[in-house]
Amino acid sequence: MKSKLLVLAVLILLPAVFMALGPQSLTAASSDAQQSSQLKDNGIGPVKSVTLGKTIDKKMVDEGQSIFFGKCSLCHAMNSQKLAPPLAGVTKTLSPVFIMNYLLNTAQMQEKDPYIQQLMQYYQSVPKMPDQNLSKSQARAVLEFLRSTAK
Ligand code: HEC
Repeated sequence: MKSKLLVLAVLILLPAVFMALGPQSLTAASSDAQQSSQLKDNGIGPVKSVTLGKTIDKKMVDEGQSIFFGKCSLCHAMNSQKLAPPLAGVTKTLSPVFIMNYLLNTAQMQEKDPYIQQLMQYYQSVPKMPDQNLSKSQARAVLEFLRSTAK
């Protein structure tokens, strides 16, 4: 009887805690299994494969960083929650191809990709991410910059 009450209390409290934590809890809530299957998702768009160097390309990082400060930092910070999710380490949960497709084909991914749709649910109160009109090589540079922020 007592344990039934306990289970009931947990069931009632869990969603409340979840809601109070807000968007930050998304990463915590998604299990390792979900994350590794997310890494296999290439998204929808013009990019079919990306070749990554063994080491980080510093020149590309510089270009990517300046694009980031010009076009992304209004909404995104690296390590903290701003209007949108923090991006440090995002290359560990999203594949390089997925990231590039999302940057180059934002609207269609928002319409059709289940992961992005789930993310948009959490960020309902924020305008959805606009397409930043990056060229393929700019998107590649941003990817390199994001890669450089993963520990
Ligand atoms: C106007 C605000 C805004 C700007 C500017 C913006 N984003 Fe976003 N971004 C968002 C929001 C909101 C989301 C959540 C999903 C969505 O709305 O599509 C998001 C999601 C993401 C994600 C997925 C994060 C995750 O945890 O899976 C990545 C990667 C990303 N943005 C990269 C970028 C990059 C790179 C730029 C600049 C080229 C950029 N964003 C510019 C608002 C923005």
